[in-house]
Amino acid sequence: MDAKLLHYLSVHFSILILSNAFTPQDNYLINCGSATSATLVDNRHFAGDSSENGSSHLSEGKSLSLTNQNPSPNSPLLYSTARVFTSPSTYTFNIKNINWTHLLRLHFAPFKSLNYDLSHGKLSVSANGVSLLTNFVANSTVLKEFFFTVDEEDLEILFTPVGGGSGSGFAYVNAIELFSVPKDFFVDSAGIALINPDGIQEFKRNITSHVLETVHRINVGGPKLTPFNDTLWRTWIPDEDFLVLKTAAKVATTNDPPNYELGGATRETAPDNVYMTAQQMNVVNDSLIFHFNITWDFPVGADDPMHLVRLHFSDIVSIALNTLYFNVYINGVTAYKDVDLSVLAFHQLASPYYIDFVVRNAKDSDIVRISVGPSDLSSTLRKNAILNGVEIMRMVDFISSSPLKSRGKSTWIVVGSVVGGFFAISFVFLAILALLKCKKKKRPKKTKPRRAESAGWTSLRAYGASSHATISLASPGPYGYSGLKIPFTDLQSATNNFDKNLVIGSGGFGTVYKAILESNSIKVAVKRGMPGSRQGLPEFHTEIAVLSRIRHRHLVSLVGYCEEQSEMILVYEYMEKGPLRSHLYGSDSLQPLPWKQRLEICIGAARGLHYLHTGSAQGIIHRDIKSTNILLDENYVAKVADFGLSKSGPCLNETHVSTGVKGSFGYLDPEYFRRQQLTDKSDVYSFGVVLFEVLCARPAVDPLLNREEVNLAEWAMEWQKKGLIEKIVDPFIVDEIKPSSLKKFGETAEKCLAEYGVDRPTMGDVLWNLEYAYQLQTNERKREHGIDADDGSEAAVTPPPMGVPARRGGVDADSDDGTSDISSSRVFSQLITNEGR
Ligand SMILES: *[C@@H]1O[C@H](CO)[C@@H](O)[C@H](O)[C@H]1NC(C)=O
Ligand SMILES: *[C@@H]1O[C@H](CO)[C@@H](O)[C@H](O)[C@H]1NC(C)=O
Ligand SMILES: *[C@@H]1O[C@H](CO)[C@@H](O)[C@H](O)[C@H]1NC(C)=O
Ligand SMILES: *[C@@H]1O[C@H](CO)[C@@H](O)[C@H](O)[C@H]1NC(C)=O
Ligand SMILES: *[C@@H]1O[C@H](CO)[C@@H](O)[C@H](O)[C@H]1NC(C)=O
Ligand SMILES: *[C@@H]1O[C@H](CO)[C@@H](O)[C@H](O)[C@H]1NC(C)=O
Ligand SMILES: *[C@@H]1O[C@H](CO)[C@@H](O)[C@H](O)[C@H]1NC(C)=O
Repeated sequence: MDAKLLHYLSVHFSILILSNAFTPQDNYLINCGSATSATLVDNRHFAGDSSENGSSHLSEGKSLSLTNQNPSPNSPLLYSTARVFTSPSTYTFNIKNINWTHLLRLHFAPFKSLNYDLSHGKLSVSANGVSLLTNFVANSTVLKEFFFTVDEEDLEILFTPVGGGSGSGFAYVNAIELFSVPKDFFVDSAGIALINPDGIQEFKRNITSHVLETVHRINVGGPKLTPFNDTLWRTWIPDEDFLVLKTAAKVATTNDPPNYELGGATRETAPDNVYMTAQQMNVVNDSLIFHFNITWDFPVGADDPMHLVRLHFSDIVSIALNTLYFNVYINGVTAYKDVDLSVLAFHQLASPYYIDFVVRNAKDSDIVRISVGPSDLSSTLRKNAILNGVEIMRMVDFISSSPLKSRGKSTWIVVGSVVGGFFAISFVFLAILALLKCKKKKRPKKTKPRRAESAGWTSLRAYGASSHATISLASPGPYGYSGLKIPFTDLQSATNNFDKNLVIGSGGFGTVYKAILESNSIKVAVKRGMPGSRQGLPEFHTEIAVLSRIRHRHLVSLVGYCEEQSEMILVYEYMEKGPLRSHLYGSDSLQPLPWKQRLEICIGAARGLHYLHTGSAQGIIHRDIKSTNILLDENYVAKVADFGLSKSGPCLNETHVSTGVKGSFGYLDPEYFRRQQLTDKSDVYSFGVVLFEVLCARPAVDPLLNREEVNLAEWAMEWQKKGLIEKIVDPFIVDEIKPSSLKKFGETAEKCLAEYGVDRPTMGDVLWNLEYAYQLQTNERKREHGIDADDGSEAAVTPPPMGVPARRGGVDADSDDGTSDISSSRVFSQLITNEGR
């Protein structure tokens, strides 16, 4: 290739990258003590604060500009001036992105001039009244970096000199950066793990405006990254000096850029380079000795008890999905067992993901120790563990507990686990919450208003699904949905030219055949639209668009499709046991399912739906939930099917999607029907009908019954409200079902059928409540244990036992090994009370 072309390409490539770059709405870069602007190697312009552009930020206070007369040759221009304050002085910045997290970076580069030796400067800094630095001294160049939420129109950064001998002290600063970070940089979510010296708890405070100070930012396995390399102008340093045993680790690198498309992290979470390198286990001579961890020790202040630890992962070491499982330990405590990046990062390799932990150090401990080691889940020959990046941030206002957001009000922000950065443990915590909630309810009246109770429901929310993965329902590009196209001739031969004997179903869309694909001999269900009829084309495309981009254990997966010769054919994984409905009623050949199994099926379907609703930025509304659209595989694992009607959920600031009413009679949300406005609560309603169907084993609508019985939703609600739901339970299970489980199940279904969407629980809530009903059915022991955690705060758990898949609220993290879906009984039995700390 000739050099000109190469140059052309590289220039255009970098323009592409630049145009992709993050542009903060609030973006203040100040060159302090200077009348001119300074431009850094990363091309950012710092306006001089004595210039017309910069000075408007500086309030009256007593200050002066100082210039370094003898700058060292390679010191940046930015550091050749400083502003010196001899009395408390303020920079004020107008904030556009109110209630967003902002990053504040203060540059201190002490130099010596005629009158001032900056390394003798001693200062305190606060932001809107919250102390950031106290009695701070720098004797070499130091950057101090803080994250916090600003909830006012102005942010005031106050510099206060700390007196020398006779009030002659001074404060100074060389440069200031203040900008808003992407909205999802820290996400409020329930159930972040708090790693105490003696075990895990839920970090129960809410983080909306916790002040965090960066202590370490490490590019594990990679080189130093400068602001030039980083989307948010951060600096990342190599990990080597922190490794406890260097020979335990081996660098892994890839040249392929990370697969951000669906993953949990974005390019702003950490730059490409962080996710393109890692440390992995250094298995010497391919021996079978895998019994070790890789460990890093990061020094922290002995007086700083609380840190947010953010770990970055991208599976760049595996050659296939579902081969890498490892454990994460923090300070010797199992912080996340059986990390399965294949599932967390949406079934793709090299897909970035991160997990947040809040870590409380033991008294006087001055390190945070992080280890990764192989999990028992991985096969002997493939044991490995990786880490790509580490960020450790001090929780500045932990002691003062006066967040920037609301001076005085001491609200905490739960620094969110990202993108559904949910943890195995969060599941447990939510389960505990559910348990505690129930205990509370049983106490003699606490005269709580009705509202509070429904708030209780929402407090069980299991959010945290990926806020980045967007699923657009756009039509496929010119090349179709890559990799999923199946030639018509293949389908012809797989179905024996659409042999009538292979038909397993038919419906509005067309006919469904059972088939075996020759290419890989997997069993599939082939759904063929009426040949030649373009009716149903939008549904056809919707289904491909939705299913080609999401994979989930509880959603029927699309194997491929064919759109040739005016054919519309969808090919799904084959669901051996067919629709849930035929296992409930209407089929003489099938045995009625026991209650426990029905619960498992409901839980599975709820999990699939929950994933649909929360597993992407906009969520997906199914719109046609019914017992025939919940299919069972050979192990009776429930999968939600038929996405033809589904819609992308409402955008952030809309609350509904307006749309023509579609759906199935008997399952239709009355509010949706009335107002023609679709929300994910419409699915919740339909799911509530399914729950009663499962309980009573009768159709949603049965015109042959007495008038008051025709509509299941109405009829069952009547009995439920009377507290007599047991009267209409399917006789096959009535002896087996425990009253407590029935009660919980009935309440859950009832809430789903609430008249107004706002009063209905989210699918996350439904899921937890069904899990709880399952617990009540299978394991009553916990009551005898009498966990009394009135305050709901201090119940601690040991990590889930081995073999229990890691699990998050937002995105299912089921193991793919077909182990039981229901792990919580084992989890529950591990509950212990924890007196004080
Ligand atoms: C002030 O800002 C304007 C526009 O933002 C820019 O063109 C000008 O160069 C700046 N002046 C200084 C001294 O930085
Ligand atoms: C910021 O958040 C507070 C409290 O949550 C709220 O009262 C206020 O209206 C919000 N302001 C903006 C501009 O969003
Ligand atoms: C800089 O300050 C630290 C303590 O803050 C001290 O340990 C170190 O010796 C100082 N270095 C120099 C060059 O003065
Ligand atoms: C926690 O954050 C959520 C979402 O931002 C908010 O709705 C809730 O009121 C907060 N809770 C507390 C205790 O601050
Ligand atoms: C990082 O930035 C520096 C310039 O500061 C550049 O020389 C280097 O190549 C970059 N590294 C990577 C990995 O992009
Ligand atoms: C690795 O193999 C080399 C040669 O095969 C041998 O000399 C060395 O001792 C082995 N190292 C370990 C740790 O087993
Ligand atoms: C890894 O470290 C954890 C925590 O210190 C420890 O419990 C575990 O036994 C270690 N695993 C191995 C294989 O050494």
